[in-house]
Amino acid sequence: MVVTVYDVAQATGLSIASVSRALNGRPGVSAATSERIVKIAADMGYQPNEVARSLVAKATQTIALLVPDITNPFFPELVKGVQSVADEGDQLLLLLDAPSDPHRLADRLAALRRKQVDGVIVVASELDSADDDLFHGIPGVFLDRAGSGSAPSVSVDQEQAAYLATRHLISRGHRRIAHVLGPENLAVSALRRRGWERACHEAGLPADDDLVFHGDFLEEGGFHAAEQILDARDGITAVFAANDLSAIGVLACCAARGVSVPEDLSVIGLDGIELARFTAPALTTVAQPIRELGERACALLLDVISGAPAGDVVLPVRLIDGASVQAHSGDGGGSPTNGGQR
Ligand code: RIB
Repeated sequence: MVVTVYDVAQATGLSIASVSRALNGRPGVSAATSERIVKIAADMGYQPNEVARSLVAKATQTIALLVPDITNPFFPELVKGVQSVADEGDQLLLLLDAPSDPHRLADRLAALRRKQVDGVIVVASELDSADDDLFHGIPGVFLDRAGSGSAPSVSVDQEQAAYLATRHLISRGHRRIAHVLGPENLAVSALRRRGWERACHEAGLPADDDLVFHGDFLEEGGFHAAEQILDARDGITAVFAANDLSAIGVLACCAARGVSVPEDLSVIGLDGIELARFTAPALTTVAQPIRELGERACALLLDVISGAPAGDVVLPVRLIDGASVQAHSGDGGGSPTNGGQR
């Protein structure tokens, strides 16, 4: 197992900043504490890279975080996690938007390199945007999805998260489950569709294109997808939306059309944003550990900057059983998409 600064901090009960200072011989930690940290790190097999450490002295103590859509409540929670560890590491955090166009994103990273930031964390959402060239030689970490090169990443298992959401509906008796897709140009959308398909196929249920409805990761897209689902009139009794904002759009459309959730239609989302607790009914969702994703991404970047070994981190998701899913017996229970007949 690769021992990281994060692991040494966990073992000593001290902050990542204190551990990083002690291991890099920087002031700000008492001699006794520094000695204790160095000994524990050595006992754990922590191996810093001497060459990279020599570069730390020229550090600007500034890192950058690039996220695709700061208006989505998922990202402010993620930023809080990154910020908390950046503060501990005495790093100034620059927050920028991650342009969806890969060329503009690359230009932004090149500009950050010219500013000599110490490292970058990128939520590179586009299908083909997450390769090492993106970093232009700056220490970098991908967040929310794995990269295609050697740069480490922090994420959940996106396909498995979607599988668990769909399995929850299947375990409650649903047999025709619609999927509101994320934006088709994003890597996570394809992974989540695959998780929905795997759960349906394993249970011998359909996962055809006529059960897939386009979304945009926003309420608007979820609302329009729900209009099509409710007009489809083909026995759909449940919806798995690729993220919580899309699911909230589905709830809004059902409310506007007099369709009861979960009595007439069950709805499950993915993310676990705070807002999902306060919808009517409260949204059932598969929650990502959003704050911890940010914390771990920043801790991993500090490792990369200091030259410590750094590998991918995959965090677990958990089901939040709200009130938007109920069992479907399949006999007598109507569906909003077939006029109530079985
Ligand atoms: O809701 C925003 C989505 O963008 C989240 O699911 C997150 O994983 C990112 O991909």
